[in-house]
Amino acid sequence: MRSPRDFRKPLAVGAPTPDADIPVRPSRMIHFFDPSNPRMAVKVPDIVKKVDILLGNLEDAIEAKNKVAAREGLIKIGRETEFGNTQFWTRVNSLDSPWVLDDLIQLVAEIGDKLDVIMIPKVEGPWDIHYVDQLLAQLEARAGIKQPLQVHAILETALGVANVEEIATASPRMQGMSLGPADLAASRRMKTTRVGGGHPGYLVRTDPDPNNPDAARATAQQDLWHYTMARMVDACAATGALPFYGPFGDIADSQACEDQFRNAFLMGCVGAWSLHPGQIDIARRVFSPPVDEVKFAVRVLEEMGDGTGTVMIDGKMQDDATVKQCRVMVALAKMLSENEPDLKAQYGFED
Ligand code: GLV
Ligand code: MG
Repeated sequence: MRSPRDFRKPLAVGAPTPDADIPVRPSRMIHFFDPSNPRMAVKVPDIVKKVDILLGNLEDAIEAKNKVAAREGLIKIGRETEFGNTQFWTRVNSLDSPWVLDDLIQLVAEIGDKLDVIMIPKVEGPWDIHYVDQLLAQLEARAGIKQPLQVHAILETALGVANVEEIATASPRMQGMSLGPADLAASRRMKTTRVGGGHPGYLVRTDPDPNNPDAARATAQQDLWHYTMARMVDACAATGALPFYGPFGDIADSQACEDQFRNAFLMGCVGAWSLHPGQIDIARRVFSPPVDEVKFAVRVLEEMGDGTGTVMIDGKMQDDATVKQCRVMVALAKMLSENEPDLKAQYGFED
């Protein structure tokens, strides 16, 4: 049992008061980079201007021998970069690794006032978030941080999926979650070798034609991630946290990447990871609501007046529930338009 009144009390003397609400900012892509790689580090000032979220990755994909260099590179980048409206995140090493304690201690001490969100991989249950929550409070107090750091969990173990609601409600720091399909596949013992996306073997087939039993039978590929995405989106939406699709590893297949991202967008995700500059534009396109949909939503809101009753627009019935959907669409379009005059013009929003 924990009293709801305690939820907004700092977990360490001198730590900032936990936030009541999660700040909602453009978050269409979380762009991953390797801070141990000097060639990537020099590109940071340019990339910052192109992405909603820049994330310095310390976990998987960083070789063990480069873990310290990555942490130090990230601290340098955090100190020297002007982030403007772009969010600055990191993915620290997993909680059972030999590196995470120093990741958290050093990052909060050195750049805790620059970082917005700390992504925690392989979260299995609320106990992982509780550990990070209290440790961050202690470190924030020591560093004199005024704005509490937020926490983002990667949903990438079978146990994590089983505990998804408890993870979402474990702390007021919970900013959101990402689906991690690669580790999740391993944890579930799925018989795949991919990083996200579909699989041609996961399909349903129509019955044989009794009059022509040898004729080819149509199949439809199914989405391996649908169940987990739905659980994650509901857990996040129910608690005000933000859901994201994670990585799409087949960098060359931009069409399938776009499809996977769009499924996530339609289901309620706010963004996805970009692992390569080519995926930045895909995420921007997909997670910005389509212009025709926004214009239609604006029309619905205008014609529905106080939002009650019904009207028919282009043969489609509108009522209180479609008004609410249209508000979601228009609110997102307006938020994204604030920093993007081109988008604002396309949506037809006035100054
Ligand atoms: C991401 O970390 C994944 O495992 O898919
Ligand atoms: Mg992973």
